[in-house]
Amino acid sequence: MIRGATGLPDQMVEDVFLFIAAISVSILVLITFLMIYFTIRYRRGRNPQPEDIRGSLWLEILWTVIPTLLVLSMFYYGWTGFRTFKKIPEGALTVKVTARQWSWLFEYENGVKTDELVIPAGRPIHLRLSSQDVIHSLYIPAFKVKQDAVPGMVSSLWFQAREVGTFDVLCAEYCGRQHAYMLTRLKAYSDHEFNKWYEEKGKEFEQEARLPRGSRLLQEKGCLVCHSLDGTPRIGPTLKGLFGKTVVVVTDGRERKLLADEDYFRRSLLEPNADIAKGFPPIMPSQKGLLAEEEINELIRHMKELR
Ligand code: CUA
Repeated sequence: MIRGATGLPDQMVEDVFLFIAAISVSILVLITFLMIYFTIRYRRGRNPQPEDIRGSLWLEILWTVIPTLLVLSMFYYGWTGFRTFKKIPEGALTVKVTARQWSWLFEYENGVKTDELVIPAGRPIHLRLSSQDVIHSLYIPAFKVKQDAVPGMVSSLWFQAREVGTFDVLCAEYCGRQHAYMLTRLKAYSDHEFNKWYEEKGKEFEQEARLPRGSRLLQEKGCLVCHSLDGTPRIGPTLKGLFGKTVVVVTDGRERKLLADEDYFRRSLLEPNADIAKGFPPIMPSQKGLLAEEEINELIRHMKELR
């Protein structure tokens, strides 16, 4: 039943789970059976005088050795499974994963960045995770893998899709207000399809590299999860035509009008809770330390163009 260190992570998890479940169920059945049997067998009607039983070396040995072996076998399979998880196979495709409030960013070796994880089926995939702000956890239920993304640290995870398909990717660590919406998809393509996608995306990426930096930053920094560019309000106000407009904000609980100028945008990025756009929840995470000065300037320059 146990496939040892050659299995895939999801197979290992399943094997260990079934192994432990089988032992637990057997013990449950055995104890329940004995309990009922003894209740009937040694009931007061049949045995009015309780009897004292003293010492049985064999019994003592049996109930020490058998549980010890059972527990050690569970440990052994858990441990070998854990080792399988931690040993990244050679030739794995490496994808860098960045978690942030509240979206995932996947970066491939050729520079392509996506918000959906696209992989070739049948090949081991190595994810290198990190976080920009708080602890998140990448969870792919279909492959029974989960790994925390911790700020200031790189953690690793590998898995392999057996077949082509689309699967859910979730965040499994409460990370703030939009945690529940930190979802994306994993698309497992055939080798051929994947290579095509990879090359096309690579070309797109090269073209995009020529796009205004600000527009790329909006995408890469995850701004567009909460802010639209087409005028519809989302979790945050739309960015379309915002620059130069007079906006109503709530400052220290009081409403006031402000001109959305460069200072306003800078403050909104670095101290988003100083002036809260009226009608929106105060949930924007501060970008202090996450954006370089030059990136902030670039974003503000781009705001002026979002008419
Ligand atoms: Cu990220 Cu929960």
